[in-house]
Amino acid sequence: MNSGEPAESLTQAQRWRETAGDAWARFHVEIDATFAPFNDALIDAATPKTNERVLDVGCGCGGTSLALAARVAPHGSVIGLDLSPAQLAVARERAAASKLAIEFRQDDAATWRADAPFDLIASRLGFMFFADPVAAFVHLRGQAPGGRAALLCWAEAEANPWMRLGRESAQGLLDLPAEPPAGSPGPFGFDDRDRLFRVLTESGWRSVEIARFDTTIAPAGGAPADVLRLSMKLGPSAPAIAAADEPTRAGVREAMAARIAAWTSGGRVTAPASAWIATARS
Ligand SMILES: C[S@@+](CC[C@H](N)C(=O)[O-])C[C@H]1O[C@@H](n2cnc3c(N)ncnc32)[C@H](O)[C@@H]1O
Repeated sequence: MNSGEPAESLTQAQRWRETAGDAWARFHVEIDATFAPFNDALIDAATPKTNERVLDVGCGCGGTSLALAARVAPHGSVIGLDLSPAQLAVARERAAASKLAIEFRQDDAATWRADAPFDLIASRLGFMFFADPVAAFVHLRGQAPGGRAALLCWAEAEANPWMRLGRESAQGLLDLPAEPPAGSPGPFGFDDRDRLFRVLTESGWRSVEIARFDTTIAPAGGAPADVLRLSMKLGPSAPAIAAADEPTRAGVREAMAARIAAWTSGGRVTAPASAWIATARS
């Protein structure tokens, strides 16, 4: 069996500063198309108001920051915070073109301090990677005195088959790193609703409410060839797939294409997806 990269040796922060962040930057258009339903649901839950000051945690290429900034215009503003220089470069370009009041900072959301308090802390899939989540959420609460939070993360892996596509397609072909124990920092770090509730409550957030958001996603917009291209390059198994030899990669591609075909109807791919949306007051 082909062995993948020693992914266990990288911390989540390193991975985002380097390979994962670079991949998300390269595919930002496809990613925003994939997560459009999540964006809409998060913004609805966040209820951003004109003039508010918003922090977008783990903003990536700024898709959510832009949507938030449009909602708090004309006098409100958004700061997007992320570790990945490649994604922030894309985000800055998009913000400049938008003329909205958005600034991006490269820093760790678990420790970065703002000059002025926020009304709203929002995040689309950007807060499951903290090494010490309670400490991070205590810190974030301190950045929004009297404010609120709206946070969206993946629910259980079983309810999100597209997120499993790389691993399941590579099964038996590649020696993938073992899956991390439940609750470890990573995409599914808060897949357990009770854990998310506990972390937010222990961090001092009040009126914590967590709702399941079930939807379907059309990865990369839903054209089967685009779904395949994106799925080979993005996600926790992507570095191991990329590091494999060509015959192995071809095997993974074939297995992936068969799974994608099962989600295709009328030439368009849609896969079920499920997220938790937490709202809270500081
Ligand atoms: C799954 S991506 C989501 C990006 C973006 N919110 C989106 O939905 O497109 C997770 C993001 O969180 C960022 N991130 C992870 N840990 C972070 C930390 N401690 N501080 C700031 N950003 C972080 C990563 O760099 C990455 O851009």
